[in-house]
Amino acid sequence: MEITITKTTAPRPKPEDPRKLGFGTVFTDHMFVMDYDGDQGWHDARIIPLEDLQLHPGAAVFHYGAEVFEGLKAYRTAGGSVQLFRPADNMQRMRDSAERIQLPDFDAEFMLKAMLKLVEIDQDWVPAVDGASLYVRPFEICTDVDLGLHTITHAKMVIILSPVGSYLGGGLRPVNIMIEDTDVRAVRGGTGYAKCGGNYAAANRAAAKAEKLGYEQVLWLDGVNRRYIEEVGGMNVMFKIGGKVVTPKLTGSVLPGITRRSCIQLLRDKGVEVEERLISVDELMDALAAGQVEEAWGCGTAAVISPIGSFAYQDKHYVVNNREIGPLAQDLYDTLTGIQWGKSDDPYGWIVKVPKN
Ligand code: PLP
Ligand code: COI
Repeated sequence: MEITITKTTAPRPKPEDPRKLGFGTVFTDHMFVMDYDGDQGWHDARIIPLEDLQLHPGAAVFHYGAEVFEGLKAYRTAGGSVQLFRPADNMQRMRDSAERIQLPDFDAEFMLKAMLKLVEIDQDWVPAVDGASLYVRPFEICTDVDLGLHTITHAKMVIILSPVGSYLGGGLRPVNIMIEDTDVRAVRGGTGYAKCGGNYAAANRAAAKAEKLGYEQVLWLDGVNRRYIEEVGGMNVMFKIGGKVVTPKLTGSVLPGITRRSCIQLLRDKGVEVEERLISVDELMDALAAGQVEEAWGCGTAAVISPIGSFAYQDKHYVVNNREIGPLAQDLYDTLTGIQWGKSDDPYGWIVKVPKN
């Protein structure tokens, strides 16, 4: 399929000081859109000036939440070129997410091509300052105008781009985490492994509670026993306990993070033992009480490596590593961002270069 390209005649000013960028509120000049219906399949692939989507108020996405999305970043290297990190992994995960929601499947290679073209066109929007990047947000929605519950026959695929700074604000600094003991985010057999909007809506109440109590993020327990550690709102989680790194295994209710996967490989290649297993909240509390949790961090595309400074669970409260960034989290951050920003070699083949325009 050809992608038609219509460039804006009114480019908007770029952020004045990219050092002051927050997360996800500034958007570039263009977007990618294509449509699906049962007769034609995917069609009308186009890159157009960024505009509002026009949808019928009866579109099923507004009522029943049929939506999946992805998040990845384009980085500007010191030499000025632009590159993506493991974009094919995001496209495969988006296909898996779409399958779970029964949104139409798509050609991942084609989507990768569309994404590269869009980033190529808007590449002047990729910030050239440390720690800032261009966040790429593909998403797919159900556009059937139908209040009945039926098989999906109409959909829309969109990619938007947003120059971003640090997700949690303040760069690499330890965050305070509340372990939620009432609400759950996902259950096995549910949609936890899929990156779909509903999972995040289900997280809102606990996130509001955490914020009210002065915590920045929620750590979820499993939905069956409310006992096993799963993940943080927008990141997977890792602990260094007794010299080893332990991280919750992927049970179906945890998002299979691409940063998580990358960290596990980088850690193992550094000679660090990594265990992917069930970790109960009691085990974590005991290890914290005994001072055995040397470091803890979250990892994700938006959050990168985000050290955890403290955990609160019911009436217990523990500080980790004196609320300082631990040496392993720092090392992992440096290695990962070194590859992403092209400061170091990429022996894994994770980087995909964006052509210069
Ligand atoms: N877990 C959740 C719930 C997320 O939203 C994210 C972010 O994408 C992650 C984990 C980390 O995934 P990734 O490293 O692929 O960005
Ligand atoms: C990402 O890291 O890309 C995400 O989608 C997390 C989101 C909460 C910003």
